[in-house]
Amino acid sequence: MGIYIRPVQNGFAGEVTRINICARLSIDEIAAIEQGMDDYAVLTFPDQPLTDQQQVAFTANFGVMEITLAGQMAKPEERRFQQLELGDISNYARGATNKLRERADKHRMYALANRLWHSDASFRAVGAGYTLLHARIVPSKGADTQFADMRAAYDALSTAEKQEVEDLVCEHSIVFSRQQIGFTDYNPGFEEHLKPVPHKLVLTHPKTRRKSLYLSSHIGGIAGWPVPEARAFLRDLMEHATQPQFVYAHKWNVGDLVMWDNHTVMHRATRFDDLKEVRDLRRTSLKGVRPEVRQQPSVIASAA
Ligand code: OGA
Ligand code: MN
Repeated sequence: MGIYIRPVQNGFAGEVTRINICARLSIDEIAAIEQGMDDYAVLTFPDQPLTDQQQVAFTANFGVMEITLAGQMAKPEERRFQQLELGDISNYARGATNKLRERADKHRMYALANRLWHSDASFRAVGAGYTLLHARIVPSKGADTQFADMRAAYDALSTAEKQEVEDLVCEHSIVFSRQQIGFTDYNPGFEEHLKPVPHKLVLTHPKTRRKSLYLSSHIGGIAGWPVPEARAFLRDLMEHATQPQFVYAHKWNVGDLVMWDNHTVMHRATRFDDLKEVRDLRRTSLKGVRPEVRQQPSVIASAA
């Protein structure tokens, strides 16, 4: 019996079973997962007790791994994991394994921006491809990760709206998303990483040819538009794109791995009692290629 994908939430997400992703995958399994990522925008793999190294090995099947900006900015003595490709998505204080972040902890403030709808690393010249999150410790309630289907959101625009957005180019910077929650406390030396980068608003998937909206809270402007007009328009689009019928909320169990395509979904974290309870997720992500010239996934995989 081979891999099985059960559609969830109108076929937006798929739950993958009959596979052990802790072990080395066969070529057929890798191809089936890549196909699954094209058919669905989010795949969940329940009950996969991955180690860090197994998560890294699984991720590397699908492309070239990237290091997050938060990982780059962390000082070596503050890191929980020496392997920079492994992102620490937990509420542990930096450099500690048994102490939670305090209320005003700078890293807590930075991470709170994950509660805004976003696409990972869209503030980079090349935004992230797939992101993978694996749950090690989950709190007793809250802390779902929500995903919004940017293909369905595009499809639901009127013909006139589709024409209006078709050639728009948005400006993305991590400064714009952090600004929305009042975070300005950046480490010196990272000014280059804060500069806005352009991305097309409408992307076409290289294989399925489906169009999607490349939206993200990292967007702060539209090329050629006055800023207030752009922001008012982007708010309307965000509101449209995150209506309940486009959203899948993942309720985490320990051992879940969730994998999504940042070019076809936005996501956000939701609240939990993070001053009292532990949530420990590990993140890996893949480098994308320029959205407007995305390569075939098979080309990306063979470059790994
Ligand atoms: C991320 C992220 C959401 C969550 O790690 O990129 O957005 O629920 N996480 O932790
Ligand atoms: Mn994210």
